[in-house]
Amino acid sequence: MPLPAPLPVDLSGVRLDPAQGLARQLYQALRERILDGRLAGGTRLPASRDLAGLLGISRNSVTRAFDQLYAEGYVAGRVGAGTYVAELAAAVRPPPAPASTAPASQALQRLARHHLAAPLEGAPRAFRVGVPAFDLFPFETWARLSARFWRKPSAARLGYGDPAGDGQLRELIAAYLRNSRGLHCEPAQILVTCGAQQAISLCAQLLVEAGDRVAIENPGYRAAAHAFAVAGAQLVGIAVDGEGLDTAALERAGRCRLAYVTPSHQYPSGGTLSLARRLELLDWAERHDGWIVEDDYDGEYRFSGTPLAPLAALDRQGRVLYVGTFCKIAFPALRLGYLVLPPALVEAFSRRRALDMRHSEIGSQAVMAEFIAAGHFQRHIRRMRSAARSRRDALLAGWPQQVPGCAPLPAVEAGLHLCVRVDSLARERELIAAAAAVGVELSALSGYWLAHSAEPVDSRAGLVLGFAAVPEARIAEALQALRQAWGI
Ligand SMILES: Cc1ncc(COP(=O)(O)O)c(C=O)c1O
Repeated sequence: MPLPAPLPVDLSGVRLDPAQGLARQLYQALRERILDGRLAGGTRLPASRDLAGLLGISRNSVTRAFDQLYAEGYVAGRVGAGTYVAELAAAVRPPPAPASTAPASQALQRLARHHLAAPLEGAPRAFRVGVPAFDLFPFETWARLSARFWRKPSAARLGYGDPAGDGQLRELIAAYLRNSRGLHCEPAQILVTCGAQQAISLCAQLLVEAGDRVAIENPGYRAAAHAFAVAGAQLVGIAVDGEGLDTAALERAGRCRLAYVTPSHQYPSGGTLSLARRLELLDWAERHDGWIVEDDYDGEYRFSGTPLAPLAALDRQGRVLYVGTFCKIAFPALRLGYLVLPPALVEAFSRRRALDMRHSEIGSQAVMAEFIAAGHFQRHIRRMRSAARSRRDALLAGWPQQVPGCAPLPAVEAGLHLCVRVDSLARERELIAAAAAVGVELSALSGYWLAHSAEPVDSRAGLVLGFAAVPEARIAEALQALRQAWGI
């Protein structure tokens, strides 16, 4: 049998796997060469018979590949005169150039310095921070409400919706805040967000100019600090103590455009901002023409005493933006939260959100509205609060009497985690590493401080323990493992 004639174009490197669709592979190989310029516009492709012979495949496969290329415009002139690569000047990409050496934009540089660590993978373990008892979530009820909504959604809710969020959900959130927090606001002041984080990020985007100084609790919620830093803010760490943010230190810090605070349960150290300090903070905002972002991320979890009125409920000047979330009552992946805005800011925040993402997905908003309206939400809050309390008790009761270098555990009246001081950074690392070796997660308090904090490193050391993530029996097992790991 005569050897096939050499091809007029270089198709070296085309390797076809006989176990896969041959026409498809040939089509992809030719398309790739056309797009990267190896087969230039105007090049005549070999006749289908020659190509089939050379590649050892049927002519039919070659014809199908050519037909596909022709249909998509990669080749032209099928009839009689042969098959030519189409002139695709705009589409042809040169081979990849070496990575750009252009300087990164300021935004990219800030992100390189301020971003979240990758989330911890897998089901929660003791003592993961920031995770509620989502093993108790009533998924059956949620699935039923969800199926009911999607079986017959009203046409009015399927188009582009209000960027501020679903009207029914906003009404229910306003009613909930009125009853549970004494926060009187209109539904029109509510902006539904993708969790508290997006609410904080919107505040950063809209209230802060590049170079503005922003007061941040130190230690504090680093993800909030990052959001403000990425918006161009200069972060100013303000000390916290058993009563939350030290308002005298805030005064001493000089002019700041905004203060970010967690008054109902300082994150992560656990204090509650006293009434006197709440009033001082509001006064600060008035005198300095500043904003206050009040993050009430776990306000549902108060185990004793009456909660103090939120700053937003005491605000007479329209300076407080209140952040709430469903993610600590339901589960974090729900990504549903809200902002209560001073009326003057509502329009701007809605516009910004519309540009970002139009609005949150309707399904979870509508189902959450039903969940609240039918009373499931309130029931679930009670269940979650009681579970968090028992899990807290399991931790407090089972924690070793004496952990060398570690202060006794504090009383815990609120929230989903506790924080305990450790003598030195070296001891903090040692305790955490030994715990990790037996599968127990402890978070380092030193990781919650702003970079360049004035405090000596050893006084930043401690442990942060989330107690709500797993049931009591698993807490007991983890404590047993810790005792062995720490040799006490
Ligand atoms: C203080 C604080 N604020 C906000 C959030 C974020 O909540 P969300 O999941 O609703 O974005 C967290 C999450 O851990 C938090 O600890």
